[in-house]
Amino acid sequence: MSNILPEAEKTQIKDLSYKVNSNVNVEAWVFNSRSSGKIAFIQLRDGSGFTQAVVEKSKVSEETWNHAESLTIESSVQISGIVSKHPKFEQFELQVTEIHPLSIAPEYPIGNKEHGPDFLFENRDLYLRSKTPWAVLRIRDQVFRSVTNFFYEEGFVRFDTPILQPTSAEDTSQLFELDYYEDKMYLTQSGQLYLEAGIMGLGKAYDFGPVFRAEKSKTRNHLSEFWMMDAEMAFYDQDMNEDVQERMVKRIIKDTLENCKEELKVLERDTAILERCVNEKFIRMKHYDAKKFLETEKGMTVDYNDDMTTEEEIAIGNHYQIPVFIEDYPFAVKAFYMKRYTDERGMERARNADLIAPEEAREIIGGSQREDDYQTLYSELVNRGYKLEDYEWYLNVRKFGSVPHAGYGLGLERMVRWLSGVHHIRETIPFPRTTILKRP
Ligand code: 4AD
Repeated sequence: MSNILPEAEKTQIKDLSYKVNSNVNVEAWVFNSRSSGKIAFIQLRDGSGFTQAVVEKSKVSEETWNHAESLTIESSVQISGIVSKHPKFEQFELQVTEIHPLSIAPEYPIGNKEHGPDFLFENRDLYLRSKTPWAVLRIRDQVFRSVTNFFYEEGFVRFDTPILQPTSAEDTSQLFELDYYEDKMYLTQSGQLYLEAGIMGLGKAYDFGPVFRAEKSKTRNHLSEFWMMDAEMAFYDQDMNEDVQERMVKRIIKDTLENCKEELKVLERDTAILERCVNEKFIRMKHYDAKKFLETEKGMTVDYNDDMTTEEEIAIGNHYQIPVFIEDYPFAVKAFYMKRYTDERGMERARNADLIAPEEAREIIGGSQREDDYQTLYSELVNRGYKLEDYEWYLNVRKFGSVPHAGYGLGLERMVRWLSGVHHIRETIPFPRTTILKRP
């Protein structure tokens, strides 16, 4: 864009602190403004951050003053001014010398009044311009970067798995089915099964992409389309699997605390528990012991044969205030591919763990050691009524050079929700898809 403002350096709002007393140009949107008739305060955002521009009528041309008064919410502008430090707060602002409006916006539907979430998400394209989405989506971006760096440093290879899959990877009742030429296909629920084949070539690999679950649940924890990072490691058992998860989660939290200070401030996030999680060891607890603890210490009525309920996960998180690996669920409530053993009470258990985060964030990771015995897996597929011809390739992982292996899946949006502290998971993805949200 040609620069029509006086000779001054084009500067992003996030960099204003380095330019105190300099004349700079900022290109931005107006998110609020007020004027007393003599002095106008224009709130600006440019994607990199937020600032205030101060226009004093006595110090600018008549044209600039008129422009200042004409700016409506979400008008776009080029503004020139001298950077100064706010006398009271640790903030930097612009003492305006010139204003050039680029586009004056008509009345903006998302004003300064309180709007309910339904309205905000019907207008998600516009709501994305507000401060909360700004902060949350930048934390989401940080998580991608942390995960990519972490796996690079740990020697993993990124291995992208197909979105169109002929079989189910998890619960068969949650599949989105589509016509595929003369055939049926499903949108992926997880890349895990393909990663298991991948690590037979690459050793340690991960994917990161959208997955789909036709879940009817309308909770603040569920999306129909979300992003999953699956990791898989050859020659790993479940303990080693949990070690990787713990290192990765610690790394994500540490990077977020270091690099997203402004975002966490915007969200008014109390970071005390997150800070603890960077250094303190996560807890590892058997499913049986978790249920027993909830029954005896918290007075809850529990079912030892079942999954953890929402209330149980919240109670565990609130009690320990640090992530807890709940290990060895009853095999009957878990997926067919998990390695199993019979415990001292005679119950068949999976060698798995769900990682429960504190602050009501609940399960952020599901992982397990995989069944590596051909015959056991074959029989399980038969027991559960899966079509064997669809899984022949998956059985090959066990047929040719089978090794102990393990892996896990991180729900990106669950992680971002915990880090950012927002109530509902729909805040953590640009355009959420749920049973209710389909557009924009
Ligand atoms: O526990 P899940 O179903 O595990 C798997 O899909 C494995 N195949 C992963 C693996 O071992 N590679 O899902 C993994 C994570 C959950 O812990 C949760 O964080 C997230 O995915 N998740 C959801 N996030 C948002 N909306 C939903 N409907 C979700 N279902 C699962």
